[in-house]
Amino acid sequence: MGIAQQLKILHGRGRNTVSEVYKLPADLSEMDFTKRLALQHRMWKLLVGGLYPPDLAEAVAQLLKREDDARPKVLDVGSGSGIWIVEMAQANPEVDFIGFDLVKNEAIVAPPNCRFIIGDLTGGLPDFQAAFDIVHARSVVGHLLDPTEGLRIIAGCVKPGGLLVLADGDLRVYNSQKHLLHAAVDGEDNAATDRCWFARWAKEWTSQTCPDGYFPIEDRVEQLKQDSGIDLEKAGGVVHRQYFAPVNWPGEGVEHGEELGGIMKLNLTRFVDACKPSFLASGYDPEIVERWISEIQNEMEDGKLRYYCPWHVVSAFRRIYP
Ligand SMILES: C[S@@+](CC[C@H](N)C(=O)[O-])C[C@H]1O[C@@H](n2cnc3c(N)ncnc32)[C@H](O)[C@@H]1O
Repeated sequence: MGIAQQLKILHGRGRNTVSEVYKLPADLSEMDFTKRLALQHRMWKLLVGGLYPPDLAEAVAQLLKREDDARPKVLDVGSGSGIWIVEMAQANPEVDFIGFDLVKNEAIVAPPNCRFIIGDLTGGLPDFQAAFDIVHARSVVGHLLDPTEGLRIIAGCVKPGGLLVLADGDLRVYNSQKHLLHAAVDGEDNAATDRCWFARWAKEWTSQTCPDGYFPIEDRVEQLKQDSGIDLEKAGGVVHRQYFAPVNWPGEGVEHGEELGGIMKLNLTRFVDACKPSFLASGYDPEIVERWISEIQNEMEDGKLRYYCPWHVVSAFRRIYP
């Protein structure tokens, strides 16, 4: 089945047919290796310093070393375009990789040690529990209706001794001094008060996607720490890394700031476009939505408001019981 057959069309964009909860498109404008998720993948690699934080390199190499007949196994939950798992599989031919998602990107060319399974993780992933040496989930938990339960299911797929790598964006927006920016308000002089139109969009999007409230990364870290299956001794226990990506400026002292600033501008433009069908389907006034979009564009173009979007990577090891 090609990607187009797996989709339903909503206000001009293709959306998955498995889950009503995931509201971003799954069409080629999102999934193609030259489009939004690929751009975001490039951003992640620049921010983090590779496919995973370099401080995990030794642990990853150890876990992916083939010691007997059993090949190590890696799961990427919510694999999207598949770009992360394909790069991992190409770099590790002795390891088996599975990408799991609501949709499969049929345009993908994957090596033989990498396959994809279509499904909804909220069903519990019973076949995957305690089965993988490494479990990776990037930009997934923040999209779930019950992120606490989703995180429990994803973390449960890690074998004892294995590694969980959880990466996600953050819908908070910070100014150049890294102080939180508030959402712009219709009909007010927002420039004078340092309010941000992208923060407004993010606030509206959160009310759409997280009706029970936003589950911030700090709470996910706490959940992992309190989970008795997580090893708090190994490699520093649960480690939370935070990165600030500048939007349309190079940031202050940010490595690869120039490229990141450009990528983030394009990524936010495409993200806003990707959210639009969901707003329209929920009954938002199309004129208001278009006005917000043009405010966001103006804000990025005139460059007066320099801002950062935060991104996070959390890692944790699953305890080996005696
Ligand atoms: C923002 S994309 C990120 C894709 C990829 N991890 C990356 O970083 O490029 C989120 C992905 O999670 C998937 N997803 C969301 N909810 C899911 C669920 N309940 N079960 C499986 N996959 C899900 C979506 O289909 C989408 O491909």
